[in-house]
Amino acid sequence: MRIDIITVLPELLESPFSHSILKRAKDKGLLEVQLHNLRDYSTLPRAQVDDYQFGGGAGMVMMMEPLVNAIESLQAKTTYDEVIYLTPDGETLNQRMANQLSLKENLLMICGHYKGIDERIREHFVTREISIGDFVLSGGELAAAVLVDALGRLLPGVLNDETSALFDSFQDNLLAPPVYTRPEEFRGWKVPEVLMSGNHRLIEDWRHDQAVARTQARRPDLLK
Ligand code: ADE
Repeated sequence: MRIDIITVLPELLESPFSHSILKRAKDKGLLEVQLHNLRDYSTLPRAQVDDYQFGGGAGMVMMMEPLVNAIESLQAKTTYDEVIYLTPDGETLNQRMANQLSLKENLLMICGHYKGIDERIREHFVTREISIGDFVLSGGELAAAVLVDALGRLLPGVLNDETSALFDSFQDNLLAPPVYTRPEEFRGWKVPEVLMSGNHRLIEDWRHDQAVARTQARRPDLLK
């Protein structure tokens, strides 16, 4: 999978993709993330990328021209399956969307700032608008990082244990069951006995019951 990201803050996105699972995905050639500084596509003095909004009101708006330059010059080199705009008024990201998007070959992501991007970009270039939750970030970069992380770990071959993403929370609309590791007893706090039984059937049943109980208690909406 190839992901191009248009941003005014490429520095903010350098680190998240250079560690752990996403680094492994890149090292294995399964994921390529390229950052593009929007200011490089501005032909205006001081590499201007934003301007006052028509009709008045506080807050700047990201202008058409640099964004269109950036999008079209990237589109000239790559055919994108989706042009994604990260925005709090987009569709809320969930595991189902992450699963679907992880099957795509090429994605272009646009990070907004200030009051957002000129609406005409959304009308004429953006194919998908995604929010990572009902709260407002100061820019789309951290949302893009969240989305790339959620997709990257789903790419076949990225996780060591091929099956482990299958048992994530949400993968079957259930939260994940509790997990334990050594020692078996710590300050008198014991690991549930069934996990020590060696009986895989019993363990699977226990995990499923725990997942259902946890989902019922914390996220009953998922069970509807
Ligand atoms: N940009 C600002 N807030 C955001 C959010 N919640 N999701 C995606 N992009 C954003």
